[in-house]
Order: sequence, then structure tokens, then C-alpha cells
Amino acid sequence: MNTEEKPAQTSAFEVIGGEARVKALVERFYDLMDLEPGYAALRKVHGSDLHNAREKLFMFLCGWLGGPQHYVERFGHPRLRARHMPFVIGILERDQWLACMDQAMGEVGVPDELRAKLRESFFQTADWMRNTPG
Ligand code: HEM
Repeated sequence: MNTEEKPAQTSAFEVIGGEARVKALVERFYDLMDLEPGYAALRKVHGSDLHNAREKLFMFLCGWLGGPQHYVERFGHPRLRARHMPFVIGILERDQWLACMDQAMGEVGVPDELRAKLRESFFQTADWMRNTPG
């Protein structure tokens, strides 16, 4: 037996609790976007039907968190910045996205330490997606 073998790294996907929990997170995220007046500007950027958005964000996050790459297998490289170009994303939209995701993470019980790490990673991604000043 190789005693120098490193212990396997636990992915964020595993810490969250796998696909069922990622699904719960995404469902809560879009439910909150629909319900909370504080996310109205973010909701307005989206079309009337959130069905596709729910499905795609779920598939994307599974891979992004270190789990199965459903999104890439189905749609290829995410090209997230390019795919978001049709939507006006400024600081207001970015901050509502991040607050909505943070609330959803809290409500579905993402452990505090992971939640703080993900908050930082989501910020980097969302900030890079801004395509309009203000
Ligand atoms: C910064 C603020 C953001 C805004 C305003 C925004 C808005 C949107 C909108 C309007 C759509 C289209 C939904 C539809 O197809 O009906 C979308 C799609 C998507 N968003 Fe965002 N988004 C933001 C940030 C993010 C972040 C941070 C991520 C990932 C961590 C993300 C991941 C995705 C994915 C994977 C899709 C599906 C892309 C596709 O294949 O069409 N978004 N977003």
C-alpha cells in the first residue's frame, strides 16, 4: 500500500450534498428572485419563464462545484461572459444576484465555511460578467 498517497480532496459538490442539494439551491435561488422585491431589478433582466434558467444553472453549478459536468457535456464551453452579453449587467444586477444566491445558500443550509468561500468565488464570476457601467 502506498502510504504517501494524499487523502482525496472533498469537492464543494460533495460538501453541499450532491445533485439533490444543488437542485434545491438553484430552485430556492430562482424562487427568491421571483418573490423578493429586493431582487426585482435582477428578475426584470430575466424572461417571464425561468424554467430554462433553472435547468441550466443547475447543470452548470454541478460542474463548477466539482461534480458532474452536465452543462459542458450538453452545451460545450460555458462562455458565461459572452452568453450574458444580451442582458444588461451592472453593479445593481451583480449585487442582487450575489445577495439572492447568498440568501438561497443560507436557506438551504450550505455550511458556513463553504458558504463564505462560494460567496467570494461567485463575486469574482459575477463581477467579471458586468457589461455596463453603474
Ligand atoms: C451578475 C449578474 C447576473 C445576471 C443579471 C444574470 C442573468 C442571466 C440571465 C438573464 C440568463 C438567461 C436565462 C434564460 O435562459 O432564461 C442567465 C443565464 C445563465 N446564467 Fe446568469 N446572470 C448573472 C450571473 C451569473 C453567475 C454569477 C453565474 C454562474 C456562477 C451565472 C450562470 C448562468 C448560466 C449557466 C446561464 C445559462 C446560460 C446558457 O446556456 O444560456 N449567471 N443569466
